[in-house]
Amino acid sequence: MEILKCEDIRKVYCSGRHQVIALDGIDLSVEKGEFVAIVGASGSGKSTLLHILGSVDRPSQGRVLIEGTDISTLNRTEAAIFRRRKVGLVYQFYNLIPTLTIRKNILMPLLLDKRKPDFQFFDRIVTTLGIADRLEALPNQLSGGQQQRAAIARSLIYRPALLLADEPTGNLDRKNSREIMDLLKLSNRNLDQTMILITHDEKAALEADRIVTIEDGRIIRDEKRR
Ligand SMILES: Nc1ncnc2c1ncn2[C@@H]1O[C@H](COP(=O)(O)OP(=O)(O)OP(=O)(O)O)[C@@H](O)[C@H]1O
Ligand SMILES: [Mg+2]
Repeated sequence: MEILKCEDIRKVYCSGRHQVIALDGIDLSVEKGEFVAIVGASGSGKSTLLHILGSVDRPSQGRVLIEGTDISTLNRTEAAIFRRRKVGLVYQFYNLIPTLTIRKNILMPLLLDKRKPDFQFFDRIVTTLGIADRLEALPNQLSGGQQQRAAIARSLIYRPALLLADEPTGNLDRKNSREIMDLLKLSNRNLDQTMILITHDEKAALEADRIVTIEDGRIIRDEKRR
């Protein structure tokens, strides 16, 4: 089943009299359960693409469909709700709310929707991610790796159709990076979580089912590995 489809995505930024073509005709289709790594040089358009897929940003041209919904037809509020329910976004710098406990941070997407959490699933996630004993702590009382795991837990709680992660191991040491990669793989395998991961780390990319290479806003290679 196709979960994500984007057609001829272009993104042009205008800064002063200059135009930057960040994305120049991206076509991509991702099946449910796929684990896709996006690689490419700095400035090639990876984050821009991820933000458009996650509906935090709009393309200048082209369509993005997630589970058949054309997200460009959504207004700002609808997009925020759609994103919360369908797309889990993991930013490089966690974005946890500093005044809330880890438990509340993770449950936040559900609380915003006044939805009852599935506590079994919650327990499974926090146990898998190894933060079950840190739930009453505040984010600044956790290590970087633990905060990143909490951010991943928050992105998984809604069982999103799509998990998007921008360099989730970008500022972690080797051991913590390894752990995060293992956990992402685990949730991909065990929870059948569809995942798109941006990474600079060649080793991390090799863990994926598929590696998409971007250069100057275009896909120059799309390699299925299994
Ligand atoms: N808000 C913006 N205004 C103008 N230009 C932008 C803006 N955001 C990104 N760009 C430009 O678009 C291009 C793609 O940027 P993007 O952030 O997507 O690259 P990236 O592949 O994620 O790079 P990195 O690996 O360094 O994170 C770059 O040339 C960048 O300078
Ligand atoms: Mg980037």
